[in-house]
Amino acid sequence: MQHNHARRMSRLILTCGVLGLLSAPQVLAEVQPMKQSAEVEAKINALIESMTVEEMAGQLTQIWGSEVQDTNPVTAKTKHEDLLGQIRAGMVGSLLGAHGAEYINELQRAAVKESKHGIPLIIGNDVIHGYRTMFPIPLGGAATWDVDLIEKSERVAAIECAAMGTHWTFAPMIDVCRDPRWGRVAEGAGEDPMLGSAMAAARVRGFQGKDLTAKDTVLACAKHFVAYGGAEGGRDYNTVDISLQTLHDVYLPPFKAAVNVGAGSIMSAFNEVNGVPASANPYTLTTVLRDQWGFGGFVVSDWSSVTEVIPHGFAVDAADADAKAITAGVDMDMSSMSYREHLPSLVKSGKVSKAVVEEAVRRVLRMKFALGLFDDPYLDTELEKKVILTDENRALAREVARSSFVLLRNEDSLLPIKDDVKSIAVIGPLAESKRDPLGTWAGVAKAEDVVSVMEGLKSRAGEKVSVRYAKGCDISSDDTSGFSEAVELTKDSDLVVIVIGESAEMSGEAHSRSSVELPGVQRELVQAVAKTGKPVVVVLLNGRPMALPWIAENIPAILVTWHAGIECGNAVADVLFGDFNPCGKLPSTFPRKTGQIPIYLGHKNTGRPPTTERYTSKYIDLPWTPLYPFGYGLSYTTFGYSNLNIASSDIKRDGTLSVTVDVANTGKVAGAEIVQLYVRDLVGSMTRPVKELKAFRKVTLAPGESQNIAFDVAASELGFHNWDMEYVVEPGEFQLWVGGSSTGDVEGRFQIVE
Ligand code: NOJ
Repeated sequence: MQHNHARRMSRLILTCGVLGLLSAPQVLAEVQPMKQSAEVEAKINALIESMTVEEMAGQLTQIWGSEVQDTNPVTAKTKHEDLLGQIRAGMVGSLLGAHGAEYINELQRAAVKESKHGIPLIIGNDVIHGYRTMFPIPLGGAATWDVDLIEKSERVAAIECAAMGTHWTFAPMIDVCRDPRWGRVAEGAGEDPMLGSAMAAARVRGFQGKDLTAKDTVLACAKHFVAYGGAEGGRDYNTVDISLQTLHDVYLPPFKAAVNVGAGSIMSAFNEVNGVPASANPYTLTTVLRDQWGFGGFVVSDWSSVTEVIPHGFAVDAADADAKAITAGVDMDMSSMSYREHLPSLVKSGKVSKAVVEEAVRRVLRMKFALGLFDDPYLDTELEKKVILTDENRALAREVARSSFVLLRNEDSLLPIKDDVKSIAVIGPLAESKRDPLGTWAGVAKAEDVVSVMEGLKSRAGEKVSVRYAKGCDISSDDTSGFSEAVELTKDSDLVVIVIGESAEMSGEAHSRSSVELPGVQRELVQAVAKTGKPVVVVLLNGRPMALPWIAENIPAILVTWHAGIECGNAVADVLFGDFNPCGKLPSTFPRKTGQIPIYLGHKNTGRPPTTERYTSKYIDLPWTPLYPFGYGLSYTTFGYSNLNIASSDIKRDGTLSVTVDVANTGKVAGAEIVQLYVRDLVGSMTRPVKELKAFRKVTLAPGESQNIAFDVAASELGFHNWDMEYVVEPGEFQLWVGGSSTGDVEGRFQIVE
């Protein structure tokens, strides 16, 4: 019925046969590292012809450098010898978890000089938000809405990790997530496909640079393909059951954006999508990724995600799993070693065609050539000392960190801290932490490199302001015995800065929480301290959007700082003392309560949108609005929006929506604003979200300064996937908002016409 109905609708099918082509088109194809010259292709073919199926399976095998973690010198040595033996026998194509120039050079020598085919190894590592110079978690990075800054931070990450032997990072993680219980929300760009696409492209550019053969660039790996962030209930590794429209309009766009800028690899996810595991899914891995998008890089599985299709109930045994995964499009097997074990017999028995294996090897070898590994696989062992944790890298980490902070509340301009404040009580379990600001996936970063909030505040406050500390409570215990000390210190101070939130371990892989409220007795600590009547600033360290309703209502100043990396404390001091004007905006909605999840901007309206009327879509015990909406964030100045102008209110489907607006700094200090443009397609052949982000721009304005900001959005970006899974831009009326958050400051209308 609905099929026929949809077909009858008058519409333009813009991308017949190329579904998703126009998703996130703001990032156009720039780099194509997978294309190789005829000469290289000939070399690859010659290699493949000379290889046995066993050796080919070796190339498709990525093993974990577990010896590195082994602290027992005897067993570590045996493991090392064993690893070298496997490499010499051509049984290993790639390693993960290996670091250090000298060590990698030794392994590389075994591969290049001591194995039959001399094929270099490709070393992959999780460089998720910095290497030794740790930047904010990616969710924080997304809160900057500053693609140039994020690109620069990944450039630094690439330079550092490449010097220590990483050729390939398992990043960016670009899973859209609309359930902040999911621990891995920390690793991505939040809830929105458009912001997510922009961040994905920026990160890939930063990692891969302009020349993959350069020694300071690394191959990017967009992950986890796909819809891993849609896990039911936010429980990690859980089932994903979503419509194909949602798959294409929400979860796939960031991957398309990454592919468009030349991401050379993709990681297949742990989850199933609508009944088919993502690591054995021919529709996503081949139909969409290769046939429709033209992706020419290679696909690596997630950790044992190939053999995990057995417990998914999709394969009878490991050989069956391998056959399904490689045929679906997973080229390299991470860690399970199942490909190595079974591909030879699978080819022999005809269950997997030799051509499929050869093609997978071809893709991997192309990337090894693209990285220049065949020309020079060795590292300069002196380099790591020169490029790691430099002053410039630290300065950039500070810039990204402070740009990522979101000021949620600032009643009566409590912040920045005024000159008459002579004593500050710093309270809370996270104030002195040097581990938690590193966040999840800290890798080789070191807590000793971190500037804690306490250290940052102390060093900025100098001699004239006393900064004293009382912990008050732990992050998650129910012990309140430290409250009285905290309260006493508060009474004796002019201002309280209370540093609370989540530890690094409360988000990340396998660290989902059933609640997004403050753990332990931290809220009670804030209440006890606030009772003194002293002005209180809450500094939140968090790996996810959190529900803080009491704090939002009762505490005058709240700063969200995520897990901000090694410069956390300095960046917090910059903002609290007013040396830097906060400009971050939420990349994810903050709910009032866990039970309000999922709550996100791009929801549908329903037939009974919430009102005060009883029979409408809402909870009886909560307002229907979020605590803080997507795109929200305050500044120490104010911005005014006026003169919204839509060049033409009738836009052809191949035309462009051109919008200008005046943005003025109406306050007293300079500041940066993220100007955001949202639309709503009022009536469609399928229901449309109530708001969709379509463009944004960061603008810095002096007090009193005004700028005319122009946005051009191609009408082709205003479409969606219809019931028949065609990408369509339908004629009809749209509402439009421009402003400093998703609530919008100025509003207009336009229509798409035939
Ligand atoms: C499993 C994680 O899901 C993935 O993101 C990561 O890259 C691999 N492990 C390798 O560490």
